[in-house]
Amino acid sequence: MVFPKSPVLGRSLFIEKKVTMKAIQIHNYGGPEVLKYEDAPRPKPQAGEVVVRVHAAGVNPIDWKVREGHMKDFWPHKFPLILGWDLSGVVEEVGPRVSQFKIGDEVYSIPDPTRNGAYADYIVVRESECSLKPNSLHHIRAAAVPLAALTAWQSLFDTAQLQPGQRVLIHAGSGGVGHLAVQLAKWKGAYVFATASTKNQDLLRELGVDEPIDYTQQRFENVARNIDIVLDTIGGETQERSWSVLKKGGNLVSLVQPPSEEKAKELGVRTAFVAGHPSGAQLAEIAKIVDSGKLAPVIDRILPFSEVRRAHELSQSGHTRGKIVLRVKNGDGTLERKQS
Ligand SMILES: NC(=O)c1ccc[n+]([C@@H]2O[C@H](COP(=O)([O-])OP(=O)(O)OC[C@H]3O[C@@H](n4cnc5c(N)ncnc54)[C@H](OP(=O)(O)O)[C@@H]3O)[C@@H](O)[C@H]2O)c1
Repeated sequence: MVFPKSPVLGRSLFIEKKVTMKAIQIHNYGGPEVLKYEDAPRPKPQAGEVVVRVHAAGVNPIDWKVREGHMKDFWPHKFPLILGWDLSGVVEEVGPRVSQFKIGDEVYSIPDPTRNGAYADYIVVRESECSLKPNSLHHIRAAAVPLAALTAWQSLFDTAQLQPGQRVLIHAGSGGVGHLAVQLAKWKGAYVFATASTKNQDLLRELGVDEPIDYTQQRFENVARNIDIVLDTIGGETQERSWSVLKKGGNLVSLVQPPSEEKAKELGVRTAFVAGHPSGAQLAEIAKIVDSGKLAPVIDRILPFSEVRRAHELSQSGHTRGKIVLRVKNGDGTLERKQS
């Protein structure tokens, strides 16, 4: 393209829009060392898409599961891949036929997990995957909400059809999904049991759990009985032992491992495996609940972009209390210098 020259300076009058950005990418599957802070092409919006300047990105177990290659048979990712499917930021550019958002809107989103994620200065998301963020939360706290809250919402409400007064057992009530699931279940009027270790019993009470259970001291099945819905965020032995707490017609909903259909039939209960999906409409509902004061994220820690490897190690430990969030805007990008 030819730009007109300035008569004074002889330089182009048009400054070409910056086309690169900083991002944390992986070029192959592996440990935290494959996370690389580098230049990446800045994405352009297609029809129905917006470009968001990412201010903060939530960290979820799916990030390190993708990094290690556990999802490669399900999602056709290509390298280099930008991880991170939880974000809050500001709309920077809108593509054709975008009707709900304009430049400058403050939004939060779970982007499509088969595409590039939010560990980057900019991300392109479909407008159907976005909502205005809760007014009462700044970007760091807003970025902690979408993936975990939507997963809890879709599990408890869309799948299990939770009704007021029902008895719910939430495993890992102190985790990313669990701490929001507890609050959403209470908001709906449920009676909530939740498990966590000794150090998180106070947190469970603060979140509104009716009967906190210390899984290191008690067998949950000795406390939680006659349960309508179990939300299984752990799998394995925890899932296996969860059948016994369900009442007839109850529902064992897992996020980690499809429960046995045969076993469910034999016991006269229902079961489901939930794979959360993006939904701007549900995020808008969730934003209203946050702004009403009935739902609040707990932040385990906020880390700069440069500490993404540490963020993954912490998430992978399986003992995050609430959420880990990466500060992306002004988060500085000295990953290589600090960590290699
Ligand atoms: N299917 C989907 O769409 C979907 C969506 C989101 C998440 N997930 C999956 O769901 C799982 C949970 O996600 P998350 O983000 O909530 O994880 P998380 O934040 O890493 O969970 C950490 C919490 O788990 C608790 N915990 C660990 N072992 C426990 C046990 N045996 N019993 C009870 N609590 C225990 C820990 O409490 P203590 O420190 O007190 O032990 C900690 O607070 C992950 O595997 C994730 O990949 C699936």
